[in-house]
Amino acid sequence: MRFIIGLFLCLVCSQVSCVKKLLLIQAIYRHGERTPTSIMPNDYFTEEKWPGGFEQLTLKGQRQHVALGKLVREKYKDFLPEIPDHRQIYVRSTDTARTIKSAMANNLGMYPKNESNPLWPDEHLIPVFNTPRPEDDLLFADNPCELHDKVWRLAKTIPKVRKILDKPEIFANLTEFMGKNVTDANFWEVWSAIKCEKEAFPDEFEARTPWYNEDLWQKILKINRGIQDFQVGKGLDGIILENYDIGRTLKSLRIGTLLNDLNDRMIAKVTCNMSNDTQKSATCQKLDPLKFLAYSTHDTTIYALYAALHLDELRFPEYAAALYIELWQETEADRQTFFRIIHYRNDTDTLDNVVTRNIPECFDDFCDLSIFRNYSLYYQPDRVRKEWCDISSFSPKIFNFAFFAGFLLLLIVD
Ligand SMILES: *[C@@H]1O[C@H](CO)[C@@H](O)[C@H](O)[C@H]1NC(C)=O
Ligand SMILES: *[C@@H]1O[C@H](CO)[C@@H](O)[C@H](O)[C@H]1NC(C)=O
Ligand SMILES: *[C@@H]1O[C@H](CO)[C@@H](O)[C@H](O)[C@H]1NC(C)=O
Ligand SMILES: *[C@@H]1O[C@H](CO)[C@@H](O)[C@H](O)[C@H]1NC(C)=O
Ligand SMILES: *[C@@H]1O[C@H](CO)[C@@H](O)[C@H](O)[C@H]1NC(C)=O
Ligand SMILES: *[C@@H]1O[C@H](CO)[C@@H](O)[C@H](O)[C@H]1NC(C)=O
Ligand SMILES: *[C@@H]1O[C@H](CO)[C@@H](O)[C@H](O)[C@H]1NC(C)=O
Repeated sequence: MRFIIGLFLCLVCSQVSCVKKLLLIQAIYRHGERTPTSIMPNDYFTEEKWPGGFEQLTLKGQRQHVALGKLVREKYKDFLPEIPDHRQIYVRSTDTARTIKSAMANNLGMYPKNESNPLWPDEHLIPVFNTPRPEDDLLFADNPCELHDKVWRLAKTIPKVRKILDKPEIFANLTEFMGKNVTDANFWEVWSAIKCEKEAFPDEFEARTPWYNEDLWQKILKINRGIQDFQVGKGLDGIILENYDIGRTLKSLRIGTLLNDLNDRMIAKVTCNMSNDTQKSATCQKLDPLKFLAYSTHDTTIYALYAALHLDELRFPEYAAALYIELWQETEADRQTFFRIIHYRNDTDTLDNVVTRNIPECFDDFCDLSIFRNYSLYYQPDRVRKEWCDISSFSPKIFNFAFFAGFLLLLIVD
């Protein structure tokens, strides 16, 4: 019986439908390897020891993105234009040197120097757009937000979160080693500085860091992983405190805007493509030619995106980690729409790792677009993020300003 049904489906597919066409790729990647964002007062590896200073993409990081761009071009060679075309490829970065340079390197990998191309170098470059950080609530998952701080404070009262953070002796020891009060808010800086130093100065690191040992490092990794997981709301959905669903609110605040941006574009792309209007709207005039969009961002942005899509098995993003979210549509019959997600950078550097079926409601590499839509609606911010964040708008202005200015110093972006 099953065989007959299978045969029947197969016939239906090959004769009428099931031929899918790729309509759009949306990529979200992390910058390549960088120098530390900052170090602690007692640290030996001061800024002048790092080429270009802190927060910079390293040459290795640049190569990582050239290599990724090259893989992307190979994978999508029949879909992407042969020469760069800014109507078909749109790239936006956060406003930092390392993400902008990563995007440039990625573009270069996709469209390298090519002497056998009669047009080269007389062809268009792919621009990299960006928005000043305070206004960029799309790509900076950690932009300052009072509501986020309030919900995170509540989260820290949940037993499983407390258990990770309640390590007074480790925090006290690290505070002494670092020469600065180590808390959950700056813990990632400790982790990140040590990680960069170990990689960049393998011979010198241990000699210059007498307190370091492998056992302590494992403890640091564990605490850091816990903080990262809980800050993106992992495992906290449905826990209600003071009327806030802690996990859902953290995810909505961090990534709801981006998730909805990706979803809205896929829906608009399909709608524009199917529209028979002779006079197309301005949106459709832009979307019809668009084939590839890339956002160059940070680990926290990407990790929040994994969490919101319940891709819980994906580890914290490595340098140049990426998601490629493809939009597909059947060419015939009911023209059903699908998405497929490819994850880049696990242990093997390929673009073959399709992760769609790890999303709880997806059972295949191709998943109905309505599932993506469901997630984006579930995590849709209550209001424009800035307004939603502003819970103390009733307070005197001077207080607001002081709070905001103080918070700016604690910004968490890797
Ligand atoms: C170089 O240009 C030629 C001619 O346009 C094209 O066939 C070829 O695919 C290009 N190679 C690369 C690596 O882009
Ligand atoms: C903290 O430091 C003290 C003294 O160096 C050491 O004995 C202790 O084991 C450390 N505690 C942890 C949890 O690493
Ligand atoms: C360090 O931070 C903790 C948590 O914010 C605070 O309770 C403590 O008083 C601080 N210690 C110092 C020495 O600043
Ligand atoms: C557009 O035209 C096609 C073919 O004539 C038709 O099947 C389809 O339903 C039309 N789409 C809309 C949105 O009207
Ligand atoms: C709609 O998509 C199909 C398949 O990719 C493409 O051939 C067609 O040109 C698109 N139409 C518009 C108006 O973009
Ligand atoms: C990494 O990607 C490869 C290639 O598709 C896949 O076979 C493997 O299972 C993936 N490993 C992990 C840990 O996700
Ligand atoms: C929509 O998303 C919610 C939250 O993740 C989930 O509980 C629900 O099962 C989803 N519904 C469908 C139809 O996928």
